[in-house]
Order: sequence, then C-alpha cells, then structure tokens
Amino acid sequence: VRIRRRREADLAECVRLAEVVHAQDNYPLRLPGNIRAFLVSGDAMAAWVAEEDGEVVGHVALHPRSHSEVVHVASEATGLPEDHHAVIARLLVAPRARRQGVGRGLLDVAAAEARARGLRPVLDVVTAYHGAMRLYEQSGWTRAGQITFRFPDGETVEEFVYLGPT
Ligand SMILES: CC(C)(COP(=O)(O)OP(=O)(O)OC[C@H]1O[C@@H](n2cnc3c(N)ncnc32)[C@H](O)[C@@H]1OP(=O)(O)O)[C@@H](O)C(=O)NCCC(=O)NCCS
Repeated sequence: VRIRRRREADLAECVRLAEVVHAQDNYPLRLPGNIRAFLVSGDAMAAWVAEEDGEVVGHVALHPRSHSEVVHVASEATGLPEDHHAVIARLLVAPRARRQGVGRGLLDVAAAEARARGLRPVLDVVTAYHGAMRLYEQSGWTRAGQITFRFPDGETVEEFVYLGPT
C-alpha cells in the first residue's frame, strides 16, 4: 500500500469509497448530497490517498479548522493559540483493506505534515466510533475533551477531541 497526495483524478474513486464506508460504518454520520464537497474542502492544507494495486483504499485530509469548538478545546489543552493547530479529517479506509496499518499510515502522514508546518495535529471523533478511537489511542493520541456538535436541524452528536503526540 502506497500513500501519496490525492490528485483530481482520484476524486471519483474517493467518492465511491466514502459511499461504501458510509453504508457500512455510518461515517460520516450524515453523508452530504455532495460527497465530493465533503472530501474536498476549499481551505484544506493537503489530502492523501492510500493506493493498493492501482486502487484507492484509503483517504485522509488536513484542514486548518473543524467546527469552532474543536480547536477551542484543543487550544485549552495545549495552551497554544487556536491557529497553531491543524485538524486531521476525512479519514476512511476501505473495509477490505482494514487492519493492515493503512489507517495508521494515513494518520501519521497527515500528522507529520501538520508538524512540518509547525502546527499541533488534532481531530474530533464521534464517541460511537470505537475502532477509530482505538487507532488514535494506539497511535499515541490523547483525549483533550468532549463536545456536543449541533446539526443545523438541531440534532446533536457527542464527540471527543484528540491531540496528536508531540
Ligand atoms: C478507523 C479506520 C480508519 C481504521 O483503519 P485501519 O486501516 O483498519 O486501521 P489500522 O489497520 O491502521 O489500525 C491500526 C491499529 O488501530 C487499532 N484499530 C483499528 N481499527 C480498529 C477496530 N475496528 N477495532 C479495534 N481496534 C482497531 C488496532 O490497534 C490496530 O492495530 P492491529 O490491527 O494491529 O490491532 C477504519 O476502520 C475506517 O475507515 N472506519 C470507518 C470510518 C471512520 O470511523 N473514520 C474515522 C472518523 S473520525
């Protein structure tokens, strides 16, 4: 499995991957109609794919922010200004490629990019995503706090904020 920067030409495959992961794992909790826009954030710092035998089997992105409370909680924990953090987002691995280290590889490459930019990697995860939390904790990430995310229709979901290892 090779991890490399995401290219424009990967997007159709990434969208299909996101559909499969959403159907199986309910991540993201709500898949927006425009999945491409979910994966491709205008202000993303970078995004990567994991490729196996020419097929995209994983994806991750690095964003300057998540919804506002995330970096706020991280900042309280690290003591760093809010803009000294970068958020790892859109991490997903194809079901058939799991438990082979792909998720960890993607997490590590995004965290390394954050550090290379002088930023502390952080992320938010829905409290029900136990597999993802195991991955973060096994990779040295620590929980900084819990937040409640409110969707525009008023429904809420609980999330943990994690800090990457220094
Ligand atoms: C979470 C996810 C990205 C993990 O990807 P992965 O490629 O299977 O992860 P890795 O193989 O790198 O796992 C590394 C370690 O993390 C832990 N881990 C990963 N997935 C786990 C799971 N489902 N249950 C328990 N531990 C898990 C294990 O310690 C694992 O090491 P091991 O396989 O030697 O025991 C993948 O399951 C996924 O795409 N899930 C749905 C989307 C999602 O939840 N994304 C994160 C949203 S914040």
